[in-house]
Amino acid sequence: MNIAVLASGRGTNLQALIDATEAGKISARIVLVVSDVESAYALQRAARHGIETRVLRPKEFPDRVRFEEEMVRVLRSRQVGLICLAGFMRILGSTVIENFRGRIMNIHPALLPSFPGLHGQRQALEYGVKISGCTVHFVDEGVDTGPIIIQAAVPVFSGDTEESLSSRILEQEHRIYPLAVQAFVEGRLKIEGRRVHFRGEESSRSGEVVLSPVPQQP
Ligand code: GRF
Repeated sequence: MNIAVLASGRGTNLQALIDATEAGKISARIVLVVSDVESAYALQRAARHGIETRVLRPKEFPDRVRFEEEMVRVLRSRQVGLICLAGFMRILGSTVIENFRGRIMNIHPALLPSFPGLHGQRQALEYGVKISGCTVHFVDEGVDTGPIIIQAAVPVFSGDTEESLSSRILEQEHRIYPLAVQAFVEGRLKIEGRRVHFRGEESSRSGEVVLSPVPQQP
C-alpha cells in the first residue's frame, strides 16, 4: 500500500512513521509527503529518506476546492491508499474527504472528544484534567470528530507546563500512530458507525487503548 503524509511543521510524527516503515513495523511505503508550508522541516526529513515531496500552497489556487482538487490529483497519481495527517494545519474539505473516505487518519494531542482543535495540550492543562493523552482517528468533515482508532493516556502532573505535558504526550503519539497505520494496512480496522474494531483481536488487549506506563516524576 502507498501512504502519503500531510504535514505543515517539524514532522516528528512523520519521522515515527518513516522509522516504522524502515523497521518493517509498517508494511507499506510512504511514497509522498505533501506540505502547505515550503519551510516545513517535515519536508527535509522526507527528502533525507528519499521520499518524494510536494509543496501545495493554498494561496496559489483560486479557492479551496481547486487546491483540494490538485491535492486529490497528486494523491491519485501516486496511487495512495492511506493519507496520514501529521501536524497538517489545515482542515480538509469535502473534496479530499469524499475522494478518500475512510482512508484518512489524523493524530491529535488530547483524548478526544475532549479538547479538539488547536492546542489540545494547553486546553487540557487549563481545564485541570488529571489524565490526557493522544488519539488517532479517521478524518471526517468535522474538526477532530471522526471515529477513534486508538488512544493513549498519560498522566498530568501538578508541575506540568504545556511543554512538559506536550512532550509526554508526543512520546505516546510516536508509539500509537504506527500501530494504527499498520492495523489499517493489514486490513484489520473495521468502522461500524462511530466505532472502530480491530479484527482478529477481540480481547481487551486489542490495542484500541494504550495505557502508557506512568513515568517517574522528576
Ligand atoms: C502533534 O502534536 C500532533 O498531535 C498534532 O500536531 C503536532 C505535530 O507534531 N496534530 P509533529 O509535526 O508531528 O512533530
